[in-house]
Amino acid sequence: MIIKSAKFVISNTDLKKCPTPNKHEYAFIGRSNVGKSSLINMITNRKKLAKTSATPGKTQLINHFIINNEWYLVDLPGYGYAKVSKEKRNKWQGFITDYLLKRENLFLTFVLIDSRLEPQKIDLEFMEWLGVNQIAFCIIFTKADKLTSSKLESNIENYKTELLKTWEELPVYFISSAETGLGKDNILNYIEETNKLLIE
Ligand code: GTP
Ligand code: MG
Repeated sequence: MIIKSAKFVISNTDLKKCPTPNKHEYAFIGRSNVGKSSLINMITNRKKLAKTSATPGKTQLINHFIINNEWYLVDLPGYGYAKVSKEKRNKWQGFITDYLLKRENLFLTFVLIDSRLEPQKIDLEFMEWLGVNQIAFCIIFTKADKLTSSKLESNIENYKTELLKTWEELPVYFISSAETGLGKDNILNYIEETNKLLIE
């Protein structure tokens, strides 16, 4: 897919204030600092479309971007950020849960996983929650530039083994790097194919 345009639309914490749900929507979610916002910038070729930071907890709102005037890409706040107060965490869980469960045009969620880490309980539980609630998702392993190709491969094999303890089938997954552009074409092609299916 060629990105002809990528524009910020709106940020909020209220499902009711999200754009009219008349276009297919894809959301990026995952732990704080996993690289959601960076990956959105990488796949759209825009350095500053989504705000990124070396400090976890940068994205705090539901951010809608419109791509090619055809579909929405959504950057969500990260979960599992220890320094957030309980009150804030509950609020977060409230509006993100609401968004994920009720956003009628949300077609697919990309769960971002740091490729450097062992499978983390918080991510596995989050994917189980998506499964229970029948929210379709793919996985994107991020920050692939930060490890050797053999370590990357063994981490992903390890992750698959872990997932197969709970899931009958593995979800579709991608490997990415916001630094090198790895994964961009695969992710965009997948979105393009999915969009086509939806239009037919
Ligand atoms: P929150 O909004 O806080 O939930 O974080 P986020 O998941 O949006 O992460 P963000 O994109 O802000 O990136 C966090 C940090 O990781 C930044 O310092 C990025 O530069 C860095 N980063 C993100 N993706 C990559 C990557 O693929 N490779 C490398 N080397 N660094 C990355
Ligand atoms: Mg972010």
